[in-house]
Amino acid sequence: MKKKTLGVNIDHVATIRNARGEIYPDPLIAAQICESSGADSITIHLREDRRHIRDYDLKNIKKKLKIPLNLEIAPTKEMLNIAIKYKPNYVCIVPEKRKEITTEGGLNLKNNMKFLKSMIPKLQRHKIRVSLFIEPSLQDIKLAYSMKVNCVELHTGAFCGAFNKRRKKLINSYFKKLKESSSYAKKLNLEVHAGHGLTYKSTQKILKIKDISEFNIGHFIVSESLIHGIAFVVKRFKKIISK
Ligand code: PXP
Repeated sequence: MKKKTLGVNIDHVATIRNARGEIYPDPLIAAQICESSGADSITIHLREDRRHIRDYDLKNIKKKLKIPLNLEIAPTKEMLNIAIKYKPNYVCIVPEKRKEITTEGGLNLKNNMKFLKSMIPKLQRHKIRVSLFIEPSLQDIKLAYSMKVNCVELHTGAFCGAFNKRRKKLINSYFKKLKESSSYAKKLNLEVHAGHGLTYKSTQKILKIKDISEFNIGHFIVSESLIHGIAFVVKRFKKIISK
């Protein structure tokens, strides 16, 4: 069986940087630390409003990273041109609404069908692996398959929300959907990924679905890094000011 891989989404390193308009923390440094710590790929989402990752981050990270770069983009002409210009190893096509706090659901494949059908082969011609971020639904997997993508990434947001609130019935029903969708996608020879809202515990539960081969995790990794890194920084400051 193919090994399971971890993609680290570093968008929120840029969120902290942009909150102050500063040059730190640098997403490139975060990406390189993830790389040397065993991450299998790095994910960045270049949003239309550039609220976190900016074009220069994409340029710098693509230039310096040795592991694959996974670029998340909306299905638009602007983003397609950017992807073709920078040629990340992977592209994951995601939906985007300006006012959302995060990517709230999977792509509406029917509404975007025409554009996706021209976008996907254009990316693949540049040897970019293409994934569609979708809800765990058999119908969407069938549509994704018909568009000849390489992978589907199943949105785990609803599952993780139920998991964090310990809503047992909901957890079971979302888990079942993820499991059935993964198995169906795998049968169609699609690579199956999962992402959104994953924590240590919810990842452990999702790991029971054998057909999922890649996990893309961001917000929790950045949050945990902050909690576990703060003691180091405070001690270093104490040393500086007590000299
Ligand atoms: N996968 C995709 C396609 C996403 O859009 C996101 C969020 O940007 C993630 C994974 C990571 O989600 P989270 O930051 O909640 O771990």
